[in-house]
Amino acid sequence: MSDSEKKGHFEGRDIVSIDHFTTDEIEYLVDKAAQFKKNPSKMKGSLKGKGLTFAFFEPSTRTRISFLKAAQNLGMERNGFGSAESSSLTKGESIYHTLKMLEGYGHDVLVLRHKLDGAAQYAADKLGIPVVNAGDGKHEHPTQTLLDLFTIRETQGSLGCLKVALVGDLKYGRTVHSLVKALRQFPNNTFSLVNTPSLALPEEYTHYEDASGKHLRKDIEQNVSLEQALKTCDIIYMTRTQLERMDPEERSAAGAIKLGPEKLTGVKKNLKILHPLPIDANHGEIHKAFDRINPEYAYFFQQAANGIPMREA
Ligand code: CP
Repeated sequence: MSDSEKKGHFEGRDIVSIDHFTTDEIEYLVDKAAQFKKNPSKMKGSLKGKGLTFAFFEPSTRTRISFLKAAQNLGMERNGFGSAESSSLTKGESIYHTLKMLEGYGHDVLVLRHKLDGAAQYAADKLGIPVVNAGDGKHEHPTQTLLDLFTIRETQGSLGCLKVALVGDLKYGRTVHSLVKALRQFPNNTFSLVNTPSLALPEEYTHYEDASGKHLRKDIEQNVSLEQALKTCDIIYMTRTQLERMDPEERSAAGAIKLGPEKLTGVKKNLKILHPLPIDANHGEIHKAFDRINPEYAYFFQQAANGIPMREA
């Protein structure tokens, strides 16, 4: 397939789950993001006349602003709302009516964030314009995963044969769920899980089932300490404890696993510390000066900046 055929192949498609992309498509998008990063003016104004609307029923800094910046760079019109509280949901309007109305304003794409798992699929089913999932509950965050993959390839030179530690809230952290699925599309990746028992990665990601029962997948190593992971892994993917999605009794896990500069002894040279951000300063899963003390390993701000070329792609 030629480059222009591949580009056309994406037109009009919803992005609800990372499952909707083939390995070739992911590689194509990562290549495109790399080209846009290298040459930011390449696609400037290429979507002039098109419009993007965003409906963020949950707070966001990075996802919303990087989508807006990417759309601006491409010359698109942009509008929408950044919180449920600033929309007419507070007057009792349903999500369906809100979305139908945005569709009726003639936008070409809707970027949606919502606290409920499945909200993006619901919107995609109900609307005639493409819907991009900017995070639905604890389910998925596929465009975050695309920028994570772009960042991983940028720092490791490959998307395969990597040892990746997933650290923190693996139960509610939607970025981890999409990332595991995506990295499984590439050969020989393995996952070291670093979490408290209450915030374990759900079995749908760790186990498979056959006639004889449930089995741990071969690419999963459970109950790994952060210290062990730091000695063996290429990527440490830290996450925030998603307090807003938890029962009160689960909240005590916040702050249980912390990464500080003192732990970085005997690590691999190519190690990079990623985090989808935000870091919770109240619980400090990463030391607040980590990026200044360990700039050779901290890569989470570069990762966030990669959101713009990836969302342009
Ligand atoms: N990574 C991420 O989704 O950040 P925001 O919640 O700030 O968009």
